[in-house]
Amino acid sequence: EQRCVVAVDGPSGSGKSTVSRRLAVALGARYLDTGAMYRAVTWAVLRDGIDPADADAVTKVADSVLLSVGTDPEAPHISVDGTPVDGPIRGSEVTAAVSPVAAVPAVRAKLVAQQREIIVAAGRIVVEGRDIGTVVAPDADLKVYLTASEAERGRRRSAETATDLAATVADLARRDKFDSSRKADPLRQADDAVVLDSTDMGIDEVVAYLTTLVDGAT
Ligand code: C5P
Repeated sequence: EQRCVVAVDGPSGSGKSTVSRRLAVALGARYLDTGAMYRAVTWAVLRDGIDPADADAVTKVADSVLLSVGTDPEAPHISVDGTPVDGPIRGSEVTAAVSPVAAVPAVRAKLVAQQREIIVAAGRIVVEGRDIGTVVAPDADLKVYLTASEAERGRRRSAETATDLAATVADLARRDKFDSSRKADPLRQADDAVVLDSTDMGIDEVVAYLTTLVDGAT
């Protein structure tokens, strides 16, 4: 089947995961959640009792762990040194610690290299993250920057995690600020990305629109 790489970037809670998985199914493609990889390294950092702000110690953990990533869009999964971590990486401890871990350049270098290998092996894949169109896959066939108003992103994430709305909005704002202002590969729109504000759009509508864009791009 024809090679096709779709990059989906955007802030937390923009609907990237749901949209990317659904788009991958529609395209008969694989799906890679790069955020899950940063979360998995963060899980290992906490497992080892390492301070997430200690960049040298975090680098050592990242260098020594083996991440296995399953890219079936119907059942994505990730394990660290053979232990499945799909549940724990969504917990509040990991969510609170992931941004400083993801800001360490050596961590990014290692994960970006693994992400590129996964993309090449898959051939046809939808990849979601913060730096996919800018760093990981600058030659992607289609780059999407998915966004939504802060209030709407908060509502969606709060419904998904059953967490208080005000706390969720505060957490999203904190992570977005950290992710956008870090030195190493910050969250940024690629110049050639299609910007899609999904505040007033349903998931089906977003997926249908992106499917037509992919058809036009490949
Ligand atoms: O997408 P998700 O919310 O699971 O990502 C968790 C964190 O991982 C983000 O807040 C960001 O710090 C980091 N991340 C990143 N680069 C990516 C994907 C995620 O820095 N490509």
